[in-house]
Amino acid sequence: MLTVIPDLLDADGLARVRALIDAAQWVDGNVTSGHQSALAKRNLQLPEEAAEAKQAGQIVLDALGNSPLFIAAALPLKVFPPLFNSYAGGQAFGTHVDNAVRIQAGTGFRVRSDLSITVFLEEPESYDGGELTIDTNFGVQRVKLPAGHAVLYPSSSLHRVEPVTRGRRVASFFWLQSMVRDDAARQMLFDLDSSIQQLAADLGHDNAQVIRLTGVYHNLLRRWADA
Ligand code: NI
Repeated sequence: MLTVIPDLLDADGLARVRALIDAAQWVDGNVTSGHQSALAKRNLQLPEEAAEAKQAGQIVLDALGNSPLFIAAALPLKVFPPLFNSYAGGQAFGTHVDNAVRIQAGTGFRVRSDLSITVFLEEPESYDGGELTIDTNFGVQRVKLPAGHAVLYPSSSLHRVEPVTRGRRVASFFWLQSMVRDDAARQMLFDLDSSIQQLAADLGHDNAQVIRLTGVYHNLLRRWADA
């Protein structure tokens, strides 16, 4: 499942993130790569431990915490601190699968990557190329979103970033461990939750069937969740 989160960052949040990261020192992106992906990756990145990355990352994390769509779709258990990268001058990231387990440098904080997140931080008209291209069961999806929008996709999927041939693509990227490991189970919970929200809006939260279906949702989550 691919989930687009429109306007995860509002104009103020986007401006604050950009002010922080644009003033920071960028390094070769291969510092975070596994061996296989290092072969395919050509970009720049903010060092994980950079103060600007931590501050900007906190703005992104706060926005995620305030997004009901993100919470319903991801059912997050642990979120890796957001990282930041940029592509320009033909830079790209070839086809790869993200590492299964991410360990934060210094703290040993471990996250199984169930879902990958890209938050676009540059307007799409200002650069050519740079699409996040994801192989899915329903064919290849090419994702290039307005600044402030985010996309969630399974970390298990093959994906790449197309070469940026004009301008500069700036993004935040990171991973999360979901309470529900199985992608299909998480999708069903999301569909059920979305339908319950709509029914509650139409029929009222105190409707007997809405209450019963809400119970089914929570009992399935209880059955499937690691918390
Ligand atoms: Ni990746």
